[in-house]
Amino acid sequence: MARGRFITFEGGEGAGKSTQVRRLVERLRVAGHDVVATREPGGSTGAEAIRDLVLKGSADRWSPVTETLLMYAARRDHIERAIAPALERGAWVVCDRFFDSTRAYQGGAGGVAPGLIAALENHVVADVRPDLTLIFDLPVAVGLARAETHAAAAGHAETRFESKGAAFHERLRAAFQAIAAAEPDRCALIDAADTIEGVEAQVWAAVADRLAIHG
Ligand code: TMP
Repeated sequence: MARGRFITFEGGEGAGKSTQVRRLVERLRVAGHDVVATREPGGSTGAEAIRDLVLKGSADRWSPVTETLLMYAARRDHIERAIAPALERGAWVVCDRFFDSTRAYQGGAGGVAPGLIAALENHVVADVRPDLTLIFDLPVAVGLARAETHAAAAGHAETRFESKGAAFHERLRAAFQAIAAAEPDRCALIDAADTIEGVEAQVWAAVADRLAIHG
């Protein structure tokens, strides 16, 4: 059985990733693929417990290095128990955030040394790397306003990361853009300011083109 394909969605706050993950998963299933939809931090019982720890509380509850280690503890459990077994049985895995979020949030925006993050990637992720990463890009003010509206509608407070301030989010956007520019074979930059249908079309075009599927 051939290994399945691994697709990740990345970007700042309020970029509309979750809606687009659902739409892509639906289209892939209609095209006949066995698809596992998952997210980070989380996606396994242990990693979901770490998610609660890392997303709740005050913005300065954890330092960026501690966050990096928590994200990687969650990621290892998620890889071992969900992602690797799914890919091995030939399923496609669509994941809302993965290691680029650590590079961008903790690294580019949070100031963690790139060497620490690269070492964790090499040892913890090893060869479970995405075949395609869709990086959702939009102006910071638009994303933060959308995230605030979502939080209010869902009746919950901002997460620790949403409350980090505009300068943090500008560094974050620049970090994601730099990843897309540095790894053009793996990454596609998506204009997330487009309409929901427009973004869906961009995502589908990238998947069909780069992973050579039709449906
Ligand atoms: P989300 O599920 O709404 O995208 O929230 C996840 C939050 O966690 C988001 O603010 C980004 C943050 N995060 C990191 O800071 N580093 C990581 O490695 C991951 C996966 C997420």
